Amino acid sequence: MSALSLTVENGIAIITFDFPGESVNKFSQAVKEEFLALFGTLEHDQTIVGAVLMSGKKDSFIAGADIEEFLTWTTAAQAEKASRDGHAMLDALERLRVPVVAAIHGACMGGGLEAALACAYRIATEHPKTVLALPEVQLGIFPGAGGTQRLPQTVGLQAALDMILTGKNVRARKAAQIGLVHELVHPAVLRRVAIQRARELADGTRERNPQARKHDAKALLLDDNPVGRAIVFRQAREQTLKKTRGNYPAPLAAIEAVAAGYQDRERGYREEARLFGEMAMTAISRELIGIFFASTALKKDSGVGDAPVSTMPVRKLGVLGAGFMGAGIATIAVQQGTMVRLKDADVGRVGKGLAAIREVLRESVSKRRITRQQMDDQLLLAGGTVDYSGFGNVDLVIEAVFEDLHVKHQVVREVEAVIPPHAIVASNTSTIPIARIAAASQRPERVLGMHFFSPVHKMPLLEIIVTPQTAREVTATAVAYGKQLGKTVIVVQDAPGFYVNRILSPYLNEAGRLVDGGAAIDAVDTAILDFGFPVGPLTLLDEVGLDIAGKSGPIFVEAFGERLMPSTTLRKVVESGRLGRKGRKGFYLYDEDGKKGGVDDSIYAFTPGGAQRVAVEAEEVQQRCVLSMVNEAVRCLEEGIVRSARDGDIGAVFGIGFPPFRGGPFRYIDAVGAARVVERLEELNSRFSGRFAPADLLVRMARKGERFHPSGARPL
Ligand code: NAI
Repeated sequence: MSALSLTVENGIAIITFDFPGESVNKFSQAVKEEFLALFGTLEHDQTIVGAVLMSGKKDSFIAGADIEEFLTWTTAAQAEKASRDGHAMLDALERLRVPVVAAIHGACMGGGLEAALACAYRIATEHPKTVLALPEVQLGIFPGAGGTQRLPQTVGLQAALDMILTGKNVRARKAAQIGLVHELVHPAVLRRVAIQRARELADGTRERNPQARKHDAKALLLDDNPVGRAIVFRQAREQTLKKTRGNYPAPLAAIEAVAAGYQDRERGYREEARLFGEMAMTAISRELIGIFFASTALKKDSGVGDAPVSTMPVRKLGVLGAGFMGAGIATIAVQQGTMVRLKDADVGRVGKGLAAIREVLRESVSKRRITRQQMDDQLLLAGGTVDYSGFGNVDLVIEAVFEDLHVKHQVVREVEAVIPPHAIVASNTSTIPIARIAAASQRPERVLGMHFFSPVHKMPLLEIIVTPQTAREVTATAVAYGKQLGKTVIVVQDAPGFYVNRILSPYLNEAGRLVDGGAAIDAVDTAILDFGFPVGPLTLLDEVGLDIAGKSGPIFVEAFGERLMPSTTLRKVVESGRLGRKGRKGFYLYDEDGKKGGVDDSIYAFTPGGAQRVAVEAEEVQQRCVLSMVNEAVRCLEEGIVRSARDGDIGAVFGIGFPPFRGGPFRYIDAVGAARVVERLEELNSRFSGRFAPADLLVRMARKGERFHPSGARPL
């Protein structure tokens, strides 16, 4: 089956890219060959004077390269060759006798954007779905089909580095501003305008690939002179190193490739291909691609196995508790078009919840993600109540009331009296086992946990917790709705802390114990940042709220004993009444706007050793915190809390920020080797009273030399 079709209208060839059997277009080897054959036709058919490249997919132009093919490369030379093939193909596109217009609607990513850059003219639709990006760094590589060469020439050095080094999405209007596209149109006229422009380019009334960049004297001055460029490159390297703490080599390699191209295109291509080959072989890239495949697989996962299951549409959602989490959940629900009824105990709190929704939507308007009209439409979907009016026709209720079993029981009983029989009741509790909440329910088979993370509109993970009683279609419906809300969903079994908070607990405890033992608060956080987590564990405790952290401690001790006993420091800090950032006082001090200041040295009065601090090696901090987390993750797999190592990796990366380039706890163990991890745990265990005893499953795997993920093969 072919991916490309060609029709000719009065001398203009319309090339429609429609990858068979997929929802998006990808550049696979076969597609590249089709393109080359098609270029032959365009070159030789003299009746054709111009061409338009467009997508046959709904709201998506080209998603980029076929990443599965990356897994077939076993040497840098193979990846380098793929890059050189990309150069040859896009050079052929650029040099075609007939001008090609890229008609972009929807996502134009990676190789898709590189192809568009080789076209003679680019038109994009002014539509929220139209975004352009070079996201390769997120996979540990960088644009390898000429992107590091063509983009700087098109949009200037600084704008190009900004896109290449962050992988961020550029919306249509911004793309026009920076000169990435030449023209914006309404989707309804895209095809017509593109054909018209192809004709103008063909008859010479319009220049090929005109510079669309707005004249910015300062930027041009920097770009055009070698000294200015050297400054930009130096700053880019410094900023990248500061941000990545040296953990990600691909952005640095991309800077080198861009710099080489300023000397001459041929040299730029050579460097781009060589460095691309090198980056494609790094362990970092392999782990990041592993995560990409895992999250792609989760998008297709029903959450209940392969047997067919029917799901119920969620047209109306009831949310109990209009506090921090309730309002957050209501926000993402209206954003994707669900009607929401938000209930709290009094009018003031309901009003606050609705105001919180408005605040997030306003921010979306100011960032031009949605229009003011869309904001108004979304706001109309949310209604508030202090009784259960409007709950008679909800399909799903998510409760986010106080973390107190009595209150949870009360609201479950009350809401079940008014909702229809098919409706599902979900709890957003972070610590209370769902079965305990379901004990108050008349129909526990329709009860489960939907554990969102804060802030709800930003955190990508949703943990769905099922009890032995939860019905299959109830789980599948919650999973489907979670995906509709844009979340990556893992399904876990019911147990204290579920998965994410369970593995977080020993890690945070260990950070506290390091402080107990004399380590400085900022030294612990810095060591963990260097390991690759986005925030240090003590800063994280301040962020979560010390009151909340303090409440979960006893629950874990009750369930798992001494092993998960909180540190002395944390217990005393909690007892002192400090709240963390929200109370402007925790392990660190915060100003009135919540901005973090330095360590609060008075905390050391709570530690067994007093104010005297001792130097602790970063590696000791990293090993103790990280190994306690990964060991707990293995226990969760062993106990069946998570279904697979894949889910366990995704939960840790998306829910906690486990360093993505390390792939998650299970991939980390695979990389280090189970035997080596067991050895380190045993060594720590001999020093620290049994809390590092390696999980049985880990010991068994070490003995047999097994891995959690098959090596080399598709990383699932
Ligand atoms: P919050 O204190 O901001 O909000 C709770 C809201 O519930 C308050 O507005 C309160 O008035 C309302 N409420 C209490 N009793 C009620 C009743 N009978 N009927 C209706 N509303 C009632 O608390 P937050 O942080 O939003 O937490 C809510 C739930 O979400 C808890 O179970 C918590 O464990 C869980 N959670 C919290 C996270 C966080 O980071 N804050 C993260 C994940 C889960």
